Amino acid sequence: MKDLSILINADDKQSHINREVYGNFSEHLGRCIYNGIFVGEDSSIPNIHGLRKDIIEAFKNIKLPVLRWPGGCFADEYHWRDGIGEKSSRKKIVNTNWGGVVENNSFGTHEFMELCELVGCEPYISGNVGSGTVRELSEWVEYMTCPDDTPMTSLRKENGREEAWSLKYLGIGNENWGCGGNMDPQYYSSVYKQFASFCKNYGGNRLYKIACGPSGGDYNWTDTVMKNFAPYGGQLVDGISLHFYCIPDWNNKGDAVDFSEDSYYTWLDTANKMEELISTHEGIMERYDPENKIALIVDEWGSWYDVEKGTNPGFLYQQNTMRDAMIAAISLNIFNRHARRVKMANIAQAVNVLQAVILTEGEKMILTPTYHVFDLYKDHQGAESIYCHTGNEDAAEGKKLPMISSSASVKDGKVTVTLSNCSLTEGVRLSGLVAGIDAKSIKADILTGEAHAHNTFDSPESVTIKPHKAQLEGNKLCVELPPCSVVRLCIE
Ligand code: AHR
Repeated sequence: MKDLSILINADDKQSHINREVYGNFSEHLGRCIYNGIFVGEDSSIPNIHGLRKDIIEAFKNIKLPVLRWPGGCFADEYHWRDGIGEKSSRKKIVNTNWGGVVENNSFGTHEFMELCELVGCEPYISGNVGSGTVRELSEWVEYMTCPDDTPMTSLRKENGREEAWSLKYLGIGNENWGCGGNMDPQYYSSVYKQFASFCKNYGGNRLYKIACGPSGGDYNWTDTVMKNFAPYGGQLVDGISLHFYCIPDWNNKGDAVDFSEDSYYTWLDTANKMEELISTHEGIMERYDPENKIALIVDEWGSWYDVEKGTNPGFLYQQNTMRDAMIAAISLNIFNRHARRVKMANIAQAVNVLQAVILTEGEKMILTPTYHVFDLYKDHQGAESIYCHTGNEDAAEGKKLPMISSSASVKDGKVTVTLSNCSLTEGVRLSGLVAGIDAKSIKADILTGEAHAHNTFDSPESVTIKPHKAQLEGNKLCVELPPCSVVRLCIE
């Protein structure tokens, strides 16, 4: 057992953690929407207008704050009019990005907005720039949000929705440096400004417009778009996105469940790269926008492995182990620590795709280890991040990966601390002080298991949250972290 120190100071408040940092992403990809979230009204699986009830409840339990839709690469080929009106007459299209399957558009704007209403989360619409027009996107916004008597409003009403929806988050293009049109940053900046100018605020609705930002470490993209966007911060541009997938080697992604100890550390090390990426992009943004009017929105992140054997390679279906729980814990701690600039993050993706929080098979549904991390971290939503420091060492001999990942926040007099021990072999005892709070009680919960541990449809609760022990005497704190574990402390 290794002994390390911990120091938490609730008086040292740093930034507000936007609830949206705990967002998810749902694309028309594989079985995320169809045969995932949406099973259709005629399904024997309990549903509300085709939306799976168990998934809605699971989203509500983690207080899902925001859901991004319809893509991803799919977004820049999506024409919203194909997905409204009588279902039987909706246009069929080929999903050219994801498996070449035929998409019948039975899940469209009304279905997505109803899902968000049932879950109680904000919708985040990703608009088509690559193959769409300014008018098309402008009219989609009008269709969704305009309360006045206009042609788009009449069309919405004809399709059964009287009230305008409230829509805050609007993405203007997705990965326009790649699948969204292969643009360069200078060209995209101009295109963005044109599109954004015609996406209007109707009635009391106020859009928060998000531009396509960099892929991973493309600092030139950030520099160019920030130079062009800075004068429009908080008006035409509210955020730029960052996409970063945890993949050490794109040519050899490897199996989601069958991996070596070495590979475990390599993946966690790659997850930690998020820290360097965010810090460097923040540095560039700070130069052009010191007043922090433009946020960094990490609207695609997570692990990406080879697909499960026997599944469609275009569907990106993968299992989810304790390794993924550790990746999620590291990433979310990083977002909490960078809450000043990082105002939203959306894990890819919600159901049955990549680092999914939920997997389904027919009527069965399982919550992945990653889901449980979102559950453990939910009290950080809307809290103030606070000073939290631990001693640290390398997670394993010869690895530069830090053993401990941590973050802390305070809300309504309650301190939440999330800690993980990345070592596979060594436990850690953290001892130290909690300042800035007259603490009377401590409650601890843990998610732990062997690195390959995962939930299956036959054994859905192999990895779940369990109560844990921690001591608080006066302001002295002591907690043990077993190898490969995520612990949450609630101190009040
Ligand atoms: O999440 C899968 C894909 O990854 C998205 O469609 C795209 O934006 C990214 O490249």
